[in-house]
Amino acid sequence: MTQPIIKLHDGNLMPQLGLGVWQASNEEVLVAIEKALETGYRHIDTAMIYKNEEGVGNALQSASVPREELFITTKLWNDDQQNAQEALEKSLARLKLDYVDLYLIHWPEPKQDNYIDAWKALLKLKEQGLTKSVGVCNFHIPHLQRLLDETGSAPVINQIELHPLMQQRPLHAWNATHNIATESWSPLAQGGEGVFDQPIIMKLAEKYEKTPAQIVIRWHLDSGLIVIPKSVTPKRIVENFDVFDFRLEKEEMSEIAKLDSGKRLGPDPDTK
Ligand SMILES: NC(=O)c1ccc[n+]([C@@H]2O[C@H](COP(=O)([O-])OP(=O)(O)OC[C@H]3O[C@@H](n4cnc5c(N)ncnc54)[C@H](OP(=O)(O)O)[C@@H]3O)[C@@H](O)[C@H]2O)c1
Repeated sequence: MTQPIIKLHDGNLMPQLGLGVWQASNEEVLVAIEKALETGYRHIDTAMIYKNEEGVGNALQSASVPREELFITTKLWNDDQQNAQEALEKSLARLKLDYVDLYLIHWPEPKQDNYIDAWKALLKLKEQGLTKSVGVCNFHIPHLQRLLDETGSAPVINQIELHPLMQQRPLHAWNATHNIATESWSPLAQGGEGVFDQPIIMKLAEKYEKTPAQIVIRWHLDSGLIVIPKSVTPKRIVENFDVFDFRLEKEEMSEIAKLDSGKRLGPDPDTK
């Protein structure tokens, strides 16, 4: 069972499946990451605003996995957009790391109108080696187009809300055209409500002898998306990683495509 690796446009490599840790406490992430690393996960997605970077750091310190095998993402919170250097240094101190693998602008927050300067600051942090790669979250096409026009530099990743009910096909396609990888947040639609009980998901779960969550994670992987399901439940952490021994067929992907209703679970980046 080999986990798939994605090559980002800056040449860095990233495990396509990672563990999300939003809404997990410092204590919960300690247990969850220990289980995840033992299971084979090497990619963890946190953020300053999750208030668990300290727990993530503790978990990584007590693990025996070499730093170069890990892929750690954290994010620049909205209030820190004008102080990216200080914000990342503080995140690194909490994570007890010398660098992160990926630093993301968490939201464009167009009302602040500062994301271009924040992006330029992230490019400097990459030059300094405090992060290996830089990217964004929740950017719509006009936000991305502005980055390209005004800085000539594209993020390696755009991490966006994406699950079977909100498939974001135009944005995913635009990202792909510009060599920007798309990463799905809330990939299980925050626990599967309205997704796991869909007849096509249940039918495929039966066919492949997998759970609905595993079918949905496989759909992300087969769509070329980077996926970071969150769980603090050891059994589910193992289950969500047990997805590398099957593939969905083209017609099955087309059936899942029909579930798209554009239903957003999180805020709209244009107005947040
Ligand atoms: N950039 C952004 O703006 C942004 C926004 C939101 C999220 N994110 C990132 O994306 C990650 C994932 O998104 P998310 O946490 O919103 O939601 P999610 O991964 O779609 O769903 C997490 C929920 O599903 C449950 N779950 C996990 N595995 C399951 C399984 N096999 N069967 C049934 N239920 C299962 C979890 O419960 P238990 O934990 O109790 O097992 C939790 O309640 C976050 O943790 C975060 O890292 C980023």
